[in-house]
Parts: sequence; structure tokens; C-alpha cells
Amino acid sequence: MEKNFDKTQWHLHECNIKIFEGLIFINLSEQPNNFNEFIAPTKKFIEFHGLADAKIAHRQYYPTYGNWKLTLDNFHECYHCQPSHPEYCQVHDKEYIIAYGAGSNTGPASEKFDKVLSEWNEKVNKMGHLTGEYSETEFNDYSRSAERTPLKEGMFTETKSGQPISKLMGKFKDYDCGYTSVGTSPFNSLLMCNDFATLFTFIPVSPLYTQVELMWLVHKDAEEGKDYNLDEMKWMWDVTTIADKRIIEDNQKGVLSEKYVPGPLSEMEKGLEKFKSWYLRHLENSIN
Ligand SMILES: [Fe+2]
Repeated sequence: MEKNFDKTQWHLHECNIKIFEGLIFINLSEQPNNFNEFIAPTKKFIEFHGLADAKIAHRQYYPTYGNWKLTLDNFHECYHCQPSHPEYCQVHDKEYIIAYGAGSNTGPASEKFDKVLSEWNEKVNKMGHLTGEYSETEFNDYSRSAERTPLKEGMFTETKSGQPISKLMGKFKDYDCGYTSVGTSPFNSLLMCNDFATLFTFIPVSPLYTQVELMWLVHKDAEEGKDYNLDEMKWMWDVTTIADKRIIEDNQKGVLSEKYVPGPLSEMEKGLEKFKSWYLRHLENSIN
């Protein structure tokens, strides 16, 4: 280059990043929203699990040959969980799946779960642990959610035996047998037990291909083979994500067929309705 070549004018593109509790948030907008405002509703749920003091025990990719919207569709409703995911149902209560997983809070099954939840909340509050939930009530830039709920009775953590599997994380003083679900966008989910966490990231790659990345996190001092067994820890989400990959790919084949016609959502699929209207309103806003 010439002597007067100005390197400062020809650098890589800049982007905004924030590191919160060891999680890296990237914003490609030139006018990023206020991070503190964005993280506020889910902050205490993430902090309680001490992710800043965690390490990645395992990372695995599940390449999924389906559109990203079909992939998220599958992940954000649990209407299909009872027929399709026996392993998930071994760890999570049927009433919870109907009340939260399927995104419906109106049926008699969720009334039953409400009772279980309020008894558990009382116990957990006495332990000095966190309870509660958050979901967006009106349309905004974000799609955030958080909740703490009990696992199926007798389960300490999300494993086949339900027995504790690793060192307690974050602010947990003892096992409260709870489960914390956090989403800071539809493209990621933090599903956290008392002693390990499973992090999901859904990456749209092309119209017919979505990369699904799972990371299992444990306390930074936990040692494999001594404090935790990786196969036992990844069992449920590994087998469930493999099943979901097949469901999504079959679904995609159906959607591509000449006979395909879109159908209505079930009343149990409130989460999907919310996601679709959020996405469509964003599309509208980007056109206008
Ligand atoms: Fe699924």
C-alpha cells in the first residue's frame, strides 16, 4: 500500500459485545439497545446458577436439515413431548409439561401443577433460594422468559436415576430439586438443574439447514470421572435432541411436499403463537 494508507479505515467490522456471567452476547446493530435493560428480567435467574464460575464439560452439535422456524417450533412447544420424548417425561412431570412445556396455563392439568408449584415455592423460599417467573406481556424488541419449577417428584437433577450428579453450582446451598429455564431470545435457552446446566443455541445457516449446539456446564472445580459422569449428564438432552432432529427433518419433508397446507395451532401451543406473532411483527417493522 501507499505510505498514506490509513489502516484505521480498513479494519474488520466492529460489533458490540457484552460478557455477562461468562455468557457472550453479541449485537450486530449499529445502535444496540441498552444491555442492562435487556438482561434485567432474567439476570437473577442466570446469576443464581453461577455460570461465571462454570466450565464447559461438553459441547455437541446436532446438524438439523430443516428451516430454523421449524426447529424453533419444535423446541418451543412440548405438545409433542409425551408421545415423542419418553426420556424427557421420565425426568419431568406430566402436569409440568402441560402447564409450561406446552405453553398453556388454562387446563385442569395446570391447576394441578399450580398446587405443586406453590408448595415447592414455599419450601424453596424457606431455603433462601430463588423462585418466580418472567415472560413478556407485550410486544417489544425482545423475547425473554425465565422460570423456576420443580422437577418430577423424587428427582434431584435431570438424569436417568434423578440422583445428584455433580457439585452444586452458584448460590445453591442444598438440592431444592428445581429446574430453571431461561431464554434471552428464541434462539437460545439455558436449562439449569442445581448441579449442571444445558445451554442450547439454534443457528439458522440456510433456508433448509439449522445448526443446533448444546453445551453442558458444570462447576469449574468439578472433575470428570470423579465429580460427574458425562454420559449420565448428557443422556436426556442428547437422546431428546436426536429425536427432535428426526421430527424436524420429517416435518421439513412434509412442508416441502406439494400436498402441504398450513394448519391451525392447537390451543395448547400458546408459546408458538407468541413466537410467531413476535417474528411477524418484527418482519412488518423491518419493512415499514
Ligand atoms: Fe422435542
